[in-house]
Amino acid sequence: MMPAPPAALVDAAAAALARGELIGLPTETVYGLAGAARDERAVARIFALKGRPAEHPLIVHLAGAAQLDAWAREVTPAARALAAALWPGPLTLILKRAPGVSDLLTGGQDTIGLRVPAHPWAQAVLARFGDGVAAPSANRYGHLSPTTAQHVREEFGDALPLVLDGGPCEIGIESTIVDVSGADVRVLRPGRYGSDVLAAILQGAINEGAIATSPRVSGSLSRHYAPRTPSERVARARLEARLRRAEADGERVRILAIGSLPQQAEGLVMAGDAETYARHLYAALRALDAEGADRILIETPPEEPAWAAIHDRLRRATAREDTDDDRP
Ligand code: TXA
Ligand code: MG
Repeated sequence: MMPAPPAALVDAAAAALARGELIGLPTETVYGLAGAARDERAVARIFALKGRPAEHPLIVHLAGAAQLDAWAREVTPAARALAAALWPGPLTLILKRAPGVSDLLTGGQDTIGLRVPAHPWAQAVLARFGDGVAAPSANRYGHLSPTTAQHVREEFGDALPLVLDGGPCEIGIESTIVDVSGADVRVLRPGRYGSDVLAAILQGAINEGAIATSPRVSGSLSRHYAPRTPSERVARARLEARLRRAEADGERVRILAIGSLPQQAEGLVMAGDAETYARHLYAALRALDAEGADRILIETPPEEPAWAAIHDRLRRATAREDTDDDRP
């Protein structure tokens, strides 16, 4: 784990937040574009800088579960149990908002997303600042989430002068989002913690996937977390044939493979375990995207529960054209 950040940097970050400025903030999942959650001008700046539609709500980050009741009302036993077991960590709880919580944060909904991040730098800044910090992933709307400070600089450049460099993110994909605002406990966005982990803590069944009455989650749009290069998922057994066909069509192809690349293919090799794969996924996709190829072929990972969140992200990254099922 990353050591604690220099005290002067924590002071500067907290002071910038207090002035209504935005900062790039490392968390254990992905980097956040952070602003004071009770400052409406700061929140408006987040939406403007990301290019994010106003109806997409933001997650408010807290230093600890003790701040829960300042932001949420009718906190359910399931919410308390999950917070006690998994905070700080890669888990966002959707709860009914406390009186006075701005429509700007919630997209006009009656619920608020809350998370206590574990990264020591996020912890230090949140503790020093002392109140909630709104932080979507620090990328322009629809792009891949950033997992290094350099990714954040590439997204925003001079428009975001203060980016804290807390190293590469340990988890690498966004937090698990769980709706605990009512009796129906439901995973709205899968992440490191799967429904098996949540079910074990709550000793009850967990539902999966948003339904019509669920709070809206922008990360649940079909195309999201996407590289610019057309990308598709291909089973390993069909990878080489798909590559040759693309090359025959005159395309320059890059492959995101697991374990090894096919013969004479160019691309990147990922680890075969889900946690390591997730940690490196967005950096790998960014690197392949930067090569300006005509197509990225992504080897389909194993169909196992540990890979559920990765499948979710790859499905969204390839939503424009996904030919895994209907081509050789
Ligand atoms: O790991 C993470 O969650 C990262 C780090 C920075 O904490 N943050 C992140 O934020 O992924 P963002 O804004 O990129 O994605 C947050 C998701 C969005 O899909 C948003 O719609 C959903 O959380 N969300 C926030 N508040 C919500 C609410 N009240 N109801 C339903 N969904 C909500
Ligand atoms: Mg995001």
